[in-house]
Amino acid sequence: MRKLAVVNMKGGVAKTTTAIHIAAGLADRGKRVLLIDADPQGNVAHTLQLRPVHTFEQLMTGDASLEQATLRGVRPGLDVVASTPAGFALERRLANEMQRETILARRMRDARGYDVVVVDSSPAMNLMTYNAMLFSEELVIPVAMDLMAVIGARQTLSGVQQVRELWPDRRLDLCAVLPVFVHSGNHATRATLDALEADPALGPHVMQPGIRQCIDLNYATASHQTIWEYAPRSRGAEDYARLIDFIENSTTGERNAEAAERAVQAATPAGSPQKQAEV
Ligand SMILES: Nc1ncnc2c1ncn2[C@@H]1O[C@H](COP(=O)(O)OP(=O)(O)OP(=O)(O)O)[C@@H](O)[C@H]1O
Ligand SMILES: [Mg+2]
Repeated sequence: MRKLAVVNMKGGVAKTTTAIHIAAGLADRGKRVLLIDADPQGNVAHTLQLRPVHTFEQLMTGDASLEQATLRGVRPGLDVVASTPAGFALERRLANEMQRETILARRMRDARGYDVVVVDSSPAMNLMTYNAMLFSEELVIPVAMDLMAVIGARQTLSGVQQVRELWPDRRLDLCAVLPVFVHSGNHATRATLDALEADPALGPHVMQPGIRQCIDLNYATASHQTIWEYAPRSRGAEDYARLIDFIENSTTGERNAEAAERAVQAATPAGSPQKQAEV
């Protein structure tokens, strides 16, 4: 099962749009996909016009099982765990929980039958974003085309680095740095792409040419559809299809599995039972 989180501390950089399109795009290509909204703004439920009975918040507090919190068949092959603004209280409610950064990872031990889980996150490095990162193995960081967004991406990456240092056994790879709101003739786009490419940590992962500015993506959100449903011939439809190609062909997941295999072998003396993976 591949586990991808879409993260960026900066707000309004198309995280939710990207998470929905990765999930819906992979489901449309025959994968069994679960999309989890870890952001109490509840934008996934709003965009896909869902009315959750049980929510991400209840999954996290243990008041609902994964089974109960899952809305099935939102699209063929696509299930969703939705958030609502009630989740804004989660940070406080979970303040005294043991190992509260790994609650989602532990709840997801029961997940069966999915090829891919995609997690949308808040524009903040908060407890829910840590939970999203500690469950996931691959990250997609959308970056809007202004220089402040590059700063946001760097800050996000230092949060990722912190997670790697605190939980060194966890696999957390950068799958893609995704330029969004790309406007090719525009100076801000050029300057931002140059800054991204020059950055030693972000540069090697930039997926070119990214997602172009496309008003149909706004209209698709407003009409509760994916871009492939709303405007299948638009630039947004073409660009997000290219992102799905990239994710399907990316080897991050396989590299993760190989690295984990090597780590287990290194930690296991010949003849002794394998160490239980700690979550
Ligand atoms: N390539 C694009 N061209 C034009 N509009 C876009 C594009 N991508 C996303 N949008 C629009 O930009 C707005 C913000 O996108 P979105 O909600 O996905 O951002 P976000 O990063 O999830 O925000 P937040 O940080 O608040 O969670 C939405 O109205 C969406 O439809
Ligand atoms: Mg969002």
